[in-house]
Amino acid sequence: MKRVYMDANATTPLVPEVFDAMRPYFIERFGNASSIHQQGQQARAAVEQARESVSSLLNCHPAEIVFTSCGTESDNLALFGLVQPGDHLITSSIEHHAILHAAEKLRDRGAEVTFLPVSGEGVVDPQDVRRAIRPNTKLISIMMANNETGAIQPVTEIGRIAAEADIYFHIDAVQAAGKLPIDVQSLRCDLLSISGHKLHGPQGTGILYVHRGTQLEPLFFGGSHERQRRAGTENLAGIVGLGKAVEMARQVLSDGTIARVAALRDRLEQGVLARVDGAGVNSANTPRVANTTNIYFDNLEGEALVIALDLKGLAASGGSACASGAMDPSHVLRAMGLSTARARACLRFSLTKLNTEEDIDFALEIIPAAASRLRELAPVNAGTLG
Ligand SMILES: Cc1ncc(COP(=O)(O)O)c(C=O)c1O
Repeated sequence: MKRVYMDANATTPLVPEVFDAMRPYFIERFGNASSIHQQGQQARAAVEQARESVSSLLNCHPAEIVFTSCGTESDNLALFGLVQPGDHLITSSIEHHAILHAAEKLRDRGAEVTFLPVSGEGVVDPQDVRRAIRPNTKLISIMMANNETGAIQPVTEIGRIAAEADIYFHIDAVQAAGKLPIDVQSLRCDLLSISGHKLHGPQGTGILYVHRGTQLEPLFFGGSHERQRRAGTENLAGIVGLGKAVEMARQVLSDGTIARVAALRDRLEQGVLARVDGAGVNSANTPRVANTTNIYFDNLEGEALVIALDLKGLAASGGSACASGAMDPSHVLRAMGLSTARARACLRFSLTKLNTEEDIDFALEIIPAAASRLRELAPVNAGTLG
């Protein structure tokens, strides 16, 4: 059966070029980058080459790059590394759980946390950030692009506000890397997180940019790896793959791929709206990353549609998370003011650069049919879901 993947914001497939770059580092070129013999030196050189590739993407010095195990670790290192009991953290209500749950934990440990609201389009207002600043504000952490809606956040303006107030600024750029240019100098951020598996690199790899001089308490204690910021033997093959993926992500930003993906996304979006009644796009009126569309299908259960599409060969994602056995509507969509019923009726389609026109044709064939069949079989009354 034909299968089409439209869930890039969950994870992306490793591309062959990345796998080929990694392959020798599992067997022939194994080595511990801390060892002084030849295998060790070879490993060290490969890790440092990857570090340079990442620093070129972000426009920073290689020494400012810390390799981690994932975006979640990078986010946690930024928050727990800086915020102490008594400090104040400003973040938003639409962050990924890697930030939200870390912020809640910090609050339990005696930090003050402000979770800023967002507009109906899912965007943070920089003036809200400014107004939330207190004398003890230590860190502002705002994402660059939202994982559910794709909405791009005003991080340049927030960076300016943070710099003027002399407050550390962290950006979760996990859903922006490879989709938007990222220049840590013009963003004026002190910390920035990226995840390898969202840009066709390997799962289990991440990056935290840490501006030189930032006093960051490590999460792990052990050896003096990563300039004492992250103890633990480097994930050699993973880091090599991440370096290659980042190099390719840099090309994608300038070779027309982003515009092609945006055109595919727009065709999908318009096609669905033209063919399905009671459908609409969340965050439609604000700039979004090119690959993401979040569509509501009133009067049906999003999860049921995800399953129906999966059975027909299309992988997409719902706007709900399973919490204690019940489907909780997405915190992002709820923060945007969607009713519980509508938030439960949303699907996210997120494309990769590997998607084609045929994939969109395929999706446009099965989505309307699946939606109308579900509405016939199990009509959901928007009013009854609350
Ligand atoms: C915005 C954002 N931040 C952080 C993460 C966590 O990244 P990882 O899966 O590498 O832990 C994700 C993953 O979906 C994300 O979308």
